[in-house]
Formats: sequence, C-alpha cells, structure tokens
Amino acid sequence: MAAVLIDSFGRTAVDLRVSLTDRCNLRCTYCMPEEGMQWLAKPQLLTDEEIVRLVRIATTDLGVTEVRFTGGEPLLRPGLVGIVADCAALEQRPRLSLTTNAIGLARTAAALRDAGLDRVNVSLDTLDPDTFHTLSRRHRHQDVLDGLAAAEKAGLAPVKVNTVLLRGVNDHEAPDLLAWCLEHGYELRFIEQMPLDAQHGWQRASMVTAEEILERLAARFTLTPEPAARRGAAPAERWLVDGGPARVGVIASVTRPFCRACDRTRLTADGQVRNCLFAREETDLRTALRSGGSDAEIADLWRAAMWGKKAGAGIDDPDFLQPARPMSAIGG
Ligand code: 5AD
Ligand code: SF4
Repeated sequence: MAAVLIDSFGRTAVDLRVSLTDRCNLRCTYCMPEEGMQWLAKPQLLTDEEIVRLVRIATTDLGVTEVRFTGGEPLLRPGLVGIVADCAALEQRPRLSLTTNAIGLARTAAALRDAGLDRVNVSLDTLDPDTFHTLSRRHRHQDVLDGLAAAEKAGLAPVKVNTVLLRGVNDHEAPDLLAWCLEHGYELRFIEQMPLDAQHGWQRASMVTAEEILERLAARFTLTPEPAARRGAAPAERWLVDGGPARVGVIASVTRPFCRACDRTRLTADGQVRNCLFAREETDLRTALRSGGSDAEIADLWRAAMWGKKAGAGIDDPDFLQPARPMSAIGG
C-alpha cells in the first residue's frame, strides 16, 4: 500500500491534529456547558510516549508533514514541552503548531519555541474583559492577552488568532478585533460556529455567517479576495485588508464547507483516529498500541480509517447528525 493517507475520493491527508487532553480551564458557551462535563480518565489517555510513537508513524510511514496539537486546552498537558521536543527530533520532522486559549502561554512560550514549536493559533473572541467572561465563564482575559504577546515575542510566528462570533454577544466587535490584530501583527481568522458543543445547543439560525462577518468588516475596511490559487487545502478564505499585505481569514465551515480539498486526519486524546471533525465513527489505535501492534499494523489501521472518509460533513443538510463526542474531546 502507498505510504500516504489517501481516501476513496483521492484526497491525501498530510495535516495531523492531535488532541492532548479533553480538559479545559475555560467554559466557552459554544463549546461546553458550565458544569457536568465528563472527562476522560487518565488510563484512557495516550501517554506522552504513545503520542510521539503515533506521530513518528504518521510522519515516517504515512506522509504527514504538519502536526497541530489541540485539546481541550493543550497547555494543560503536563508533558507538552517534552512531546514537542520529541516530535521535533523525529527523523521526518513535521511542522509543529499549537491551538490554544493562551492561558499560561506567557510562562511557556519560550520553552515551547526552544523545544521546536513553530507556530500558535490563539482563540480570542473579544477585546472586552466582561464579554470574555460572558463567553468563557472565566475571568482570564488578561492571561490570554499576555499569552499572545509572549508568543509573538518568542517568535512563534505568524501568530494567528481564531475568533468565533456569537450573535448579540460579540458580533459587533468584528472590525475592532481586526483593527486590534492588525495593530499587533496577528493574523485574524473568523470561524463560523459549528455544531460541536457538548450540550448540543447549536442553532443554524443564530449562527453568524461568513457573509455577515464580511459585511461587518467591509463597513470599515477594503477587502480584496486573495487569489483562490493561494488557498490550497487551507479552510480559510482570505482577504487582503486595505490593499495588503495584512490579511484576514474566514473559515465558513457551515455555509461554504471546503471538504473537497480537506487534507486532515485527527487523533483524539484517547487514541482514536477520526477522518473528519464530523465523523460518526472512530478507529481505535490505542488498543493496537497497547497489545503489541507493530508500526506497520498501526499504519494499516490508520490508512483504513482514512480510506473511509466521507465526501463532506454536510452540516447544512437537513439530515445532519452531530457527532457523539464534542469538539473538546475530538480536538479542534
Ligand atoms: N464552532 C466553531 N469554532 C469552535 N471552536 C471551539 N468550538 C467551536 C465551535 N463549536 C474554536 C475555538 C478554537 C478552535 C480550535 O475552534 O475557539 O479557536
Ligand atoms: Fe476551552 Fe477551547 Fe472549548 Fe473554550 S473552545 S472551552 S478554550 S476547549
């Protein structure tokens, strides 16, 4: 079999998302309920060594070139710096990045950079501390801003900022957030709210669409679409802001899904491969790891998992069914 993760539609997955924990120190309303989350138990989680082994198999035997650590909140994983260092030391070194809420990043950005981390994506939905509390139910706004500044200072560039807009909460902030990110040299991307919250509260009608976001931005900025050729497999559609070189991205996962060019494969914190964020099935690699499976056997399981990837997620279809596990367990 070919040494790549190819599916029956001819797409090749080279970008691996690895969830390091399902836990988080925030409770963003679009992600989790205030209380009552059931966390994975420690023995269910892959160990640091198991994670590095799977990343090695992915890069050596399956053609993966990008590894993004996610959560939950990956900074809560005690072994994070070591995992990054071990992945950076692999023979086929992947590009390494982190999707984080940046709480605590002020303390660890330099160590992560030294360990070999290339980039970070930081989630920031508002410039207002009170709105931050409304959205995340925690008073940690300043920690996030400090984390962002530390990432920039440590050279984890380009620092990208992810924003989810909620109607009536922070949607009026779109142009302010863009102005702020331009001022700080961060690249902003808006993400349409997806039905991946643990409490199944998502409603199509209350989602702020890409079209609305662009309308709000156009009231203050001149946006020119970046040529489609530059997009590749990136889910973000990008616009030059006021003639460039600064850019803004919009990830229209719901209204303009980009499944046809998807190049992702995902690993949950408990060692399950998911071929799509919205997949309803998972393939268990942890059991194979713990029962003495060889690299070749694990690679075969992973290839088979990806071969069955569906053409698209179909969130906007009337018969769409939300996956059983929430985003915090799947990895963003
Ligand atoms: N819809 C869209 N984006 C989400 N994120 C978390 N939950 C959702 C959701 N339901 C975002 C986080 C983070 C990124 C990994 O995904 O804010 O920036
Ligand atoms: Fe935590 Fe991210 Fe979920 Fe917010 S969206 S609660 S930061 S995992």
